[in-house]
Amino acid sequence: MYLSRPELIKKEIFDISEYVPGKSIEEIASVYSLDKASIIKLGSNENPLGPSPKAVQALIDAAPYANIYPSADALEFREALSKYTVFPVSNIVASGPGMDGLLDGLCRLMIEKGDEVIIPIPTFAYYELAARACGGKPVFIRRNQNFSLDPQKVLEAESSKTKIIFLCSPNNPSGNLLPESSLRKILKNTRALVFVDEAYVEFADRNIVGLVQEYDNLVVGRTFSKVFGLAGLRLGYGILPEWLAKEYIKAATPFSVSFPALKAGIAALLDVEHIRKTIKITREGREYLKKKIPFKVYPSQANFVLVDVAPLKAKAVAEILMKKGIIVRPCDSFRDAGETFIRITVGTSEQNKKVVNSFKAVKKEV
Ligand SMILES: Cc1ncc(COP(=O)(O)O)c(C=O)c1O
Repeated sequence: MYLSRPELIKKEIFDISEYVPGKSIEEIASVYSLDKASIIKLGSNENPLGPSPKAVQALIDAAPYANIYPSADALEFREALSKYTVFPVSNIVASGPGMDGLLDGLCRLMIEKGDEVIIPIPTFAYYELAARACGGKPVFIRRNQNFSLDPQKVLEAESSKTKIIFLCSPNNPSGNLLPESSLRKILKNTRALVFVDEAYVEFADRNIVGLVQEYDNLVVGRTFSKVFGLAGLRLGYGILPEWLAKEYIKAATPFSVSFPALKAGIAALLDVEHIRKTIKITREGREYLKKKIPFKVYPSQANFVLVDVAPLKAKAVAEILMKKGIIVRPCDSFRDAGETFIRITVGTSEQNKKVVNSFKAVKKEV
């Protein structure tokens, strides 16, 4: 007999829809009877080159010390990040699991029942989930047709209960950057904390992290899951004002980043060749996909492109691609994204060719 005791669960949890991840290779192999080795995974914006070999070696070297807790302040890792970001260590916090852990920590720190957070949609789903789990109420505002953001609309959505404004740049799933002028306008005119998610910023032409020096209400979130190819290690970090970093570490889980992950992160930061190569193939591949996919492809500053397959439905097209062994992400699970968008991670040139040929075949079939 199964027991169920929903009265023990916080009420706000029942308002949360489960996070929808990209499909796994195992799932697609089993559903479509495909050989795992033939499947290409372009649904979760991972690094198609894999992790830096130096990070892999650091993991192997760290393995014998798995019985020891990592340092609580992750100082060695933060020092490496300090060199990489040119910020003092006092402005940097390590986070796990991934940047999601940073979002959780901030919500634990700031959100009480009834507090509001502003989320321009469509965007990354976890802001809503993290806020709701703490009793927060998301206030959604719509992006423009081309996914740009009107800073005035953000400011108009603010109330006395607003605690955090979540902005994503480049935005997932649309790939566009938030202009610095828009961000400054929001920062200057809000009482709330502004969180800018720069998960994909290494693939972009510019970043806004320097503004943390100027504004005491800006936090920038970063991750090792994308350009550094360490999604499986769940490693992230935040750049934030010192006053907030001091409070954040009280609310965040202690030892949230494992010792092997810290060591691999440091090695990945130092592997400049792997970083450069990843950025180069991504930028080239992004242009190729934009030019060759025979549907509307939005300009992207990230390691993915957004394709509008209208008048077809994203789910149907994604299914055709998945049957061919290409895992992509139909965006119908993104709030307010409609039913015709597919997000595809930029892969290796061979994978990108396969993507283009498959889209051409879809176009011919309809
Ligand atoms: C915009 C954005 N932010 C944050 C994350 C989560 O990053 P992490 O893997 O570090 O938790 C993702 C993951 O895909 C993302 O797309």
